[in-house]
Amino acid sequence: MAPLTIGVVGAGTMGRGIAQLAAQAGIAVLLLDTAPGAVEAAREAITADADKLASRGRLSPERAAAVAGLVRPAATLLDLAPCGLVVEAIVEDLAVKQALFQALEGVLTPEAVLATNTSSLSVAALAAVCQRPQRVAGLHFFNPVPLMKLVEIIEGPATSPEVIAFLTALTRQFGHQPVAAKDMPGFIVNHAGRAYGPEALRIVSEGVAEFATVDAIMRDAAGFRMGPFELFDLIGLDVSRRVMQSIYDQFHQEPRFRPVPLVAQRVAAGLLGRKSGKGFVTSPASPAPVAAKPDRPVWVSGAEPEMASPLIAALEKAGVVVEHGSEPSPQAVILLTPLGEDTTSAVLRLGLDPARTLSVDMLFPEARRYTLMPSPATSEPWGASALAALAATGQPVSLIHDGTGFVAQRIVAQIVSIGCEIAQQRIATPADIDLAVRLGLGYPHGPFALGDRIGPRRVLRILQAMHAATGDPCYRPSAWLRRRAMLGLPLAAPD
Ligand SMILES: NC(=O)c1ccc[n+]([C@@H]2O[C@H](COP(=O)([O-])OP(=O)(O)OC[C@H]3O[C@@H](n4cnc5c(N)ncnc54)[C@H](O)[C@@H]3O)[C@@H](O)[C@H]2O)c1
Repeated sequence: MAPLTIGVVGAGTMGRGIAQLAAQAGIAVLLLDTAPGAVEAAREAITADADKLASRGRLSPERAAAVAGLVRPAATLLDLAPCGLVVEAIVEDLAVKQALFQALEGVLTPEAVLATNTSSLSVAALAAVCQRPQRVAGLHFFNPVPLMKLVEIIEGPATSPEVIAFLTALTRQFGHQPVAAKDMPGFIVNHAGRAYGPEALRIVSEGVAEFATVDAIMRDAAGFRMGPFELFDLIGLDVSRRVMQSIYDQFHQEPRFRPVPLVAQRVAAGLLGRKSGKGFVTSPASPAPVAAKPDRPVWVSGAEPEMASPLIAALEKAGVVVEHGSEPSPQAVILLTPLGEDTTSAVLRLGLDPARTLSVDMLFPEARRYTLMPSPATSEPWGASALAALAATGQPVSLIHDGTGFVAQRIVAQIVSIGCEIAQQRIATPADIDLAVRLGLGYPHGPFALGDRIGPRRVLRILQAMHAATGDPCYRPSAWLRRRAMLGLPLAAPD
């Protein structure tokens, strides 16, 4: 069998990365682009990048030296005839991609594989115009291709298992990590990513917290590398907006993916993030209010013993007087540790004094920041006492307005629920979803590992409480999550 030659059509951001990756693996590439000079510019950029990788010890000097010779220009589609695989990375337009695949079928052998790098179009729609739809699949890379190790391999309704196996093995040969996904909007990564930013936007839109506060909580309490708004600024809000709207529309207005009006306004105002020099995070979070020395005893409700005990331990370690009676004394500031509830609902349910009650998010006991949430009835001096008690531990404190599920609880619960929905819809396996989310989105854990660390029952309780309080169907828990939580099974348990 002749050695594989890969054709890459489109020598822009993605095409040049794909060509580079294949050449670095020692595979011959033919690169084609309709824009004059695009292929030459891409070849120069590829050689320069391979040399840079070699100088950093990330690619052997022999491999880097071979790259230039392995990536050759193709002048016309006919030149691609010897290719066993053609990957298209051209403009994101269905009709243009369909025309390209039809033309390629006239040039290539019947065994050749046609792969699309599309992010948002359906592989099925692309394959539908082809004579051999079984040879068509998605091969979805991430930018920058040489560094982002994840590749989603998308199976259309007609794709043959042999084609999927070929692309999976090839991805491994590239040194990248394949994950398998069905041809559904957003595949895995752009689907699973519909919780972090969108839920953060809802929090701000509801007036619960400001942008920088949400970021600080997600970094310091939930362990994310970047806050959701820093991430929007990095990606560009115009790009994120298109993805949010496209997934929402393609899932027929699924409430979980509902965008907030704030986004369109900010895009119209040119507040796109780094690319326009102005974005969400232009200033650090408002400084935490200066806390005086703890001046009152604290009583922590035992309604959620597992959440309350690490808080009590931390307060006592800091020298704060903690009352252990079954009821608070009249001098005590009252702290609750609810799941999914706002302070208003929790204090009324427990029959406590709203004027001296606040809530603390204890979902992540190892958090390096407290989130403190009064209700509208909490009176100022009692709020200041609660702040002083938490500040005595030495941890920063973020003060937010009353809202269901604080900040971290509701964002992580949505990440888990949407991840579970992807498994429920059989788009991908839990293991592949977790891998795709870690590598593609850079989260510290995938939705299944995250949900199992927190405890599926807790995640379910957060969502059920939020759903009950708001009536918003966006918080209805995934059936996959609900069943496993009720049965006491780990989230990755198959059925
Ligand atoms: N940029 C990303 O982060 C990213 C990530 C994943 C997937 N994608 C997808 O990859 C594809 C390419 O995106 P990009 O960012 O590299 O775009 P790009 O604009 O950087 O490059 C596209 C290239 O294709 C060429 N081209 C357009 N029509 C052509 C045709 N009919 N024949 C040959 N060449 C043609 C253009 O001249 C251009 O050089 C799109 O489908 C996009 O959705 C992009």
